[in-house]
Amino acid sequence: MARLKVGVLISGRGSNLQALIDAARDPAYPAEITLVISNRPDAAGLARAAGAGIPSRVIADTERGAFAAAASAALRESAVELVALAGFMRILDDGFVAAWRDRMMNIHPSLLPAFPGLHPQRRALAAGVKVSGCTVHFVRPEIDSGPIIAQAVVPVHPADDEDALAARILAAEHFLYPLAVRLHAEGRLSVAGNIVMVSGVPPPEFALFNPAGG
Ligand code: GRF
Repeated sequence: MARLKVGVLISGRGSNLQALIDAARDPAYPAEITLVISNRPDAAGLARAAGAGIPSRVIADTERGAFAAAASAALRESAVELVALAGFMRILDDGFVAAWRDRMMNIHPSLLPAFPGLHPQRRALAAGVKVSGCTVHFVRPEIDSGPIIAQAVVPVHPADDEDALAARILAAEHFLYPLAVRLHAEGRLSVAGNIVMVSGVPPPEFALFNPAGG
């Protein structure tokens, strides 16, 4: 069975890239990472790609159109079928977003549409929410918008600071992104307007209560 070819765009640490690399080590996983693109030469994620023997490219983002053109060419050369943004911190050219419509995902550390943009964990704490989490969605031109593919919920604990909440969410991200990519690779996702329908996977039946009750 041919595996779906995934290109991952990063700007930094690359822990979500690592989660995708680790998932794809299983030959039964229906996707493989064939290219990593970073807009920053110092991104730690580049070493993760090298460690896994995955080709990588550094493409400067000084000009949005030039980045899009170079990234498109590199993705084409690697026959990439799905783009996964994983901590990619630049706004993409509208033409690039249109070209990859419903074939480009992003992961964001909040329960969208709550807290799009920067510092979502800090803003979740300031809002006093009792649960937060992460979202994988198809990319649209507006930042952190687009049809929601999958979400994971984590509790917010009373003693949490931003780092503690971010770490709890990140652990969920590392399960959620490989799941979302797998569902896409298995052809289980269809997009109608702003809604993603997922076929063949039953939704969970339980609710998460916080506080849990006495
Ligand atoms: C993650 O929290 C992701 O949700 C957000 O940026 C962070 C990237 O972390 N978009 P990493 O580079 O994958 O470790």
